Amino acid sequence: MQKNIKEEINSLHQALLAVLRSAATTDALEKIRIDFLGRSGRIATLMKQLKQMSLEQKKELGPLFNQLKVSSEQAFNTRSNAIKNFDSTEQALKEKFFDVTAYKPNQYRGSLHIYTQLIQQLEDIFISMGYSVEDGNEVETDYYNFETLNIPADHPARDIHDTFWLNVPNMLLRTHTSTVQAHAMEDKGVPLAVFAPGRCYRNEATDATHEFMFTQAEGLLIDKNISISNLLATAKTFIQKIFERDDIKLRVRPGYFPFVEPGLEIDASCPFCKKGCSICKKTRWIELLGAGLVHSNVLQSSGINPNIYSGFAFGFGLERLAMIKNEIDDIRLFHNGKINFLDQF
Ligand code: PHE
Repeated sequence: MQKNIKEEINSLHQALLAVLRSAATTDALEKIRIDFLGRSGRIATLMKQLKQMSLEQKKELGPLFNQLKVSSEQAFNTRSNAIKNFDSTEQALKEKFFDVTAYKPNQYRGSLHIYTQLIQQLEDIFISMGYSVEDGNEVETDYYNFETLNIPADHPARDIHDTFWLNVPNMLLRTHTSTVQAHAMEDKGVPLAVFAPGRCYRNEATDATHEFMFTQAEGLLIDKNISISNLLATAKTFIQKIFERDDIKLRVRPGYFPFVEPGLEIDASCPFCKKGCSICKKTRWIELLGAGLVHSNVLQSSGINPNIYSGFAFGFGLERLAMIKNEIDDIRLFHNGKINFLDQF
């Protein structure tokens, strides 16, 4: 009997070591713990036999049972710690190399801001017509914002620009994207075709159609024999493309900008109605562009001979265009960061 019990003790220990080796999860471990080390587990059941034994047998087998208990618990704890360590390293690895493409339902996705989308559409259109896209500086000098654009210091046109002057003399926040004109002529020379969207600033009170920070885009083309018909053809092409309509007509009115001669205001026939609607304010026309042929003083100021070269320039407000295109009634919505507005585009 004693020999049998010794063998049983030994084989129980071996069996425990074998199942521990193949256990890989904390759930599997828990089952093993109940099965072997639990109150009515296999070790406890075997130890119950001790009660019926003689004192002598108890003396001999007692320490063996004890050893079984202690070494079994040790083996169990060693394995349990190993699995816990493995779990936490695996978790750490998962956190380090998380899957950015994993799909999570109902997750809010961002999108491009409405005028980023418009700028991209416009850039595509102008690039397709052979223009290059230019970025100007938002902090500018008096020279590029006014002086070289035929607006000298005492010129009354300065008043309508409501300029934010900086503390540094002659420095300002640009009031229009026409600042890129002289930069482009100086940097690139002629012939030249640039399209330049960007932020502008004017110190005015804000309301539904005015913001102190807004976005304009400027077009400038200079070459030999450029005339108003080139300007109108270009304007018509991009306006029709942006509204995705090929029946839009243009109307030209005289306009005054010191850096163009003649200066024009270009209106488009309302893309939304034939009889007058709220977008065209029942006039059937919407005002879109300030434009004209580049003034000879502007060309000369950048070292271009006006007897050989001529060009056109036009400028427009991007928020205004986006507002017309998407029926938005308040320019302040563009910057207030409200998701339920941005979400619609
Ligand atoms: N810069 C003018 C403005 O801000 C627009 C314009 C650009 C007019 C180019 C003519 C030519 O109002």
